[in-house]
Amino acid sequence: MIEKIDHVAIAVHSIAERTELYRDILGLEYEGTEVVEDQGVRVAFFRLGEAMIELLEPLDDDGPVARFLKKNGEGLHHLALRCDDIDSERDRAEEAGIRLLSSEPVDGAHGKLISFLHPGDTGRVLLELTQRRGEPEDSLPVSKD
Ligand code: CO
Repeated sequence: MIEKIDHVAIAVHSIAERTELYRDILGLEYEGTEVVEDQGVRVAFFRLGEAMIELLEPLDDDGPVARFLKKNGEGLHHLALRCDDIDSERDRAEEAGIRLLSSEPVDGAHGKLISFLHPGDTGRVLLELTQRRGEPEDSLPVSKD
């Protein structure tokens, strides 16, 4: 079951540069940053109710987010939907003819399991399915720098 919006992710050239907007001007609660090697990104978290806004900054020049920035510039990158059983959501998507970007769920930020649906099959919206691994709702293994 899809339960709620988990986060909205925005690709940025520099988290440091954009933190002022989300934390200081919009007043969202900054929850720290985390490196997600699998995705080639540093992620900064800003809490907004039960969801997060996540800023994605590429770690190097050739990851998916770096390529996104080269092609599109900064902007909305993906929408993440929280589910209680990522495997069954993956199965449902595949049965409906929607391609998945990985052959199985991969590691995301916060130790979550994630899978992306192919944007060519979703009206150009990059949708992430995400499932928490059972840690407490607000445990965030991040550094506040
Ligand atoms: Co995400």
